[in-house]
Amino acid sequence: MGEKPRKLLVLYASQTGNALDAAERIGREAERRGCAASIVSADEFEASSLPDEEGVVFVVSTTGQGDSPDSFKAFWRFLLQRNLGKYWLQQVRYAVFGLGDSGYQKYNFVAKKLDKRLSDLGATTIIEKGLGDDQHPSGYEGTLDPWMLSLWSKLYQINPKYFPKGPDVMIPQDEVIDQPKYMTLYHKREPKLLAESEIIQRARGMSPGKLSKDKSKPDCFLKMTRNEVLTKAGSAKDVRHFEFQFVSSTIGYEVGDVVELLPSQNPSSVDAFIERCGLDPESFITVVPRETENSGEVLTQAPIRLKTFVELTMDVTSASPRRYFFEVMSFYATAEHEKERLQYFASSEGRDDLYNYNQKERRSVLEVLEDFPSVQIPFEWLVQLVPTLKPRAFSISSSPLAHPAQVHLTISIVSWITPYKRTRKGLCSSWLASLTPEQEINIPVWFHKGSLPAPPQSLPLILVGPGTGCAPFRGFIAERAVQAQSSPVAPVMFFFGCRNEGTDFLYRDFWEFHAREGGMLSEEKGGGFYRAFSRDQPKKVYVQHKIREMSKKVWDLLCDGAAVYVAGSSTKMPSDVMSALEEIVSEETGGSKEDASRWLKVLEKAGRYNVEAWS
Ligand SMILES: Cc1cc2nc3c(=O)[nH]c(=O)nc-3n(C[C@H](O)[C@H](O)[C@H](O)COP(=O)(O)OP(=O)(O)OC[C@H]3O[C@@H](n4cnc5c(N)ncnc54)[C@H](O)[C@@H]3O)c2cc1C
Ligand SMILES: Cc1cc2nc3c(=O)[nH]c(=O)nc-3n(C[C@H](O)[C@H](O)[C@H](O)COP(=O)(O)O)c2cc1C
Repeated sequence: MGEKPRKLLVLYASQTGNALDAAERIGREAERRGCAASIVSADEFEASSLPDEEGVVFVVSTTGQGDSPDSFKAFWRFLLQRNLGKYWLQQVRYAVFGLGDSGYQKYNFVAKKLDKRLSDLGATTIIEKGLGDDQHPSGYEGTLDPWMLSLWSKLYQINPKYFPKGPDVMIPQDEVIDQPKYMTLYHKREPKLLAESEIIQRARGMSPGKLSKDKSKPDCFLKMTRNEVLTKAGSAKDVRHFEFQFVSSTIGYEVGDVVELLPSQNPSSVDAFIERCGLDPESFITVVPRETENSGEVLTQAPIRLKTFVELTMDVTSASPRRYFFEVMSFYATAEHEKERLQYFASSEGRDDLYNYNQKERRSVLEVLEDFPSVQIPFEWLVQLVPTLKPRAFSISSSPLAHPAQVHLTISIVSWITPYKRTRKGLCSSWLASLTPEQEINIPVWFHKGSLPAPPQSLPLILVGPGTGCAPFRGFIAERAVQAQSSPVAPVMFFFGCRNEGTDFLYRDFWEFHAREGGMLSEEKGGGFYRAFSRDQPKKVYVQHKIREMSKKVWDLLCDGAAVYVAGSSTKMPSDVMSALEEIVSEETGGSKEDASRWLKVLEKAGRYNVEAWS
């Protein structure tokens, strides 16, 4: 009997969906070459059965500050067990593709440590790991495409049974299209009235966008009570202070926590999408995975209005569709010139042009569909391929002690001009900016711990928060000021930065009040408030320069057991701050830069160096 054809397992772990897309693409490309592939999320895979697999492609992203996606945590804990030994995976061949952003200090950290661990457990690598980078002009796909080609040829060399007709013989794209993974069932109108949170839970629970065992139901709703512009006329930015109160139930939170907020989409754009796709907005639907077609699950799902499903789960007005969307569109295009263009976009040769047309221009699904009027895609495909409407995270800028039953946020309203001179706006920030308290809109939210643990009041603090990075520290300082009224508190140094003092100095009165005699940030309390206005003089001055200027005091506070907290832009700031601190430690201890870096690593391991950064 001949050898069985080979099968690949593609195991992925994704926080926001990119690794899932990459995994699906790898799976599709393998199948087009005649190799069966199963694509499984790490939290749905039994880790103990890994040694039974022959060929595994891992696709993992890095999130937080070098953290693994939620869906990877249990799998990773399993792999770290000491008793597994160095031969545990000796039958397994593997390849790792990581998704990351080289703007972060711990670039593709999860992929790198996974690669090392698999090798330590005896697995054999098929090819050198691939590292996808958001900073690449074509995004992670810039690395994925060439990496996959090497993967296929290496697999073929290892065993031709992977690709019986060779690694380059492919089923043409326009001859096959898979079945969509989801089915839509249409129902008669349902009479039962549901609470708002149940509607959201129902819609988001059905959506394919669940990346791990997701919390579909919001923790509660917030209502806006204040919308105030913090920046002054002439600033290049529009940064707002928002205040909210809880609607019905109140959720307890701590300073440093993060709230996730589900934005609403422009109603007329949602209507335009529904009309463009020929859908009935008032129909009642359930969306179920095709694989459950014959199971009882289909019958137990309660239906939801189609328009509500689109509004709550499908980002039709803001996010750009993925490459596969163009491939599926090409299949359904009836005008020849549209079909050709879409096929080109979906091909490797068209990748950069697609990037310029789609991602760089931040074209929405609705805009893309309008550009290709002959395409009529079945709703099942749209459900699968339209990007999921994602909640946006914000560092809470209030303190539950100082602002009971309130939540404050400090938000930069996102807006930019694309290369083709189109103005684009951030969905959530611009929606919030457009709201007024009088509208009394209920905003669905989820609370969770971020990367900034609430510090005990006895812990000295060195806080670094330029721009909206000051948000969590407004909460820290307000909280400590209340605590100081009844018991002693440890000193706080705060480094703030912005472009111009006159226009961008967020919460100026608040910081200056606390920096006054006897205040939380005052010199006599052992603290300090340091400001870097980068563009008020010819030479740029940033927070890291101010930290260097205060070397002695920073070092003394570190020696007193201070914790460092950094928040704000993820691009360069966190690593510049880290370098400034390395220089201080090395100067003060007389040790090398490497020693200083190790010293700070120990601080980090002890939970005394915390960074929350966002792009
Ligand atoms: C843990 C955490 C805490 C956060 N805390 C805060 C906070 O306190 N305050 C705050 O303001 N934000 C914070 N953010 C960021 C916030 O979550 C949102 O990303 C931000 O508000 C933009 O959301 P949006 O919906 O308005 O924009 P979106 O619709 O999501 O658009 C943003 C995207 O647009 C693109 N984009 C933006 N500007 C440009 C440009 N100039 N050129 C090209 N493309 C561009 C980028 O792809 C960017 O990711 C935090 C993020 C995280 C993860
Ligand atoms: C909040 C946040 C934190 C991130 N942290 C890191 C990081 O520490 N290192 C890194 O290389 N990339 C980091 N990234 C970039 C992501 O890894 C990258 O965007 C990736 O494509 C996301 O894949 P996913 O959607 O599958 O999670 C971060 C992205 C976000 C939004």
